[in-house]
Amino acid sequence: MELDKAIEQRFSVKSFTKKSVDFGVISKILEAAIKAPSAGNLQDWRFVVVTDDSKKLELGKACRDQVWVGQASAVIVVCSDLTNLQRFYNDRAETYGIEDCSAATQNILLKATDLGVNATWISAFDEDEVARIVRTPDHFKIVSVVPIGYSDEKATEKNRNVLNTVTYFDEYGNSTMNPSAFPIVKEENVTAVKEGIKESKGFFSKIKDKFKDVREEMKKED
Ligand SMILES: Cc1cc2nc3c(=O)[nH]c(=O)nc-3n(C[C@H](O)[C@H](O)[C@H](O)COP(=O)(O)O)c2cc1C
Repeated sequence: MELDKAIEQRFSVKSFTKKSVDFGVISKILEAAIKAPSAGNLQDWRFVVVTDDSKKLELGKACRDQVWVGQASAVIVVCSDLTNLQRFYNDRAETYGIEDCSAATQNILLKATDLGVNATWISAFDEDEVARIVRTPDHFKIVSVVPIGYSDEKATEKNRNVLNTVTYFDEYGNSTMNPSAFPIVKEENVTAVKEGIKESKGFFSKIKDKFKDVREEMKKED
């Protein structure tokens, strides 16, 4: 599957069928997880793959009573071993641990989607309880709990704020006046961009260096 498809098709589920996920598939998912970037390449992520039925149910309870977690074929507990991060990064260790494991978690979700497996990122949990269930040492930070399996749920259309309401140029608050001005790279956007430019000359003067190609295109037509 192409990356764009995996990004588009990934969605969170809250129920699973009884079909189990092969260990070979879980390995592929975790192989993708360990390709994530990590601070200083310390690769502090550790994965506890829980398939024991009673432990899965306990994890569901520890996730603020999200009992459906117990239906998953496996629950991957993603945690950071803070040892090396603390050695190199002192008070930034925990932040980096969370970030490294979040990057790994996203890879898990995308690879699962790629392989036709459903997965949900859960961070609403009682950390002490999860640590007790999976017996992680004190210097571990639990970052996410990811139930995986097969689900009958169907993806609904992604509810996302449009790009130009969350994107700024050079400084926060400096946004485009016309959504057609971004993204700008594709040829077919040029006409739309020109329309946008007419409406927002001030904006264009600020970004003229960034959008050199469009300016050249406009010159050719003049
Ligand atoms: C940090 C984080 C914590 C989340 N915690 C939970 C959770 O506890 N339970 C849950 O059902 N979904 C959880 N989610 C999934 C979000 O609810 C979901 O990603 C969001 O509603 C967007 O839907 P989508 O994943 O289908 O695109 C979490 C997602 C993230 C990134």
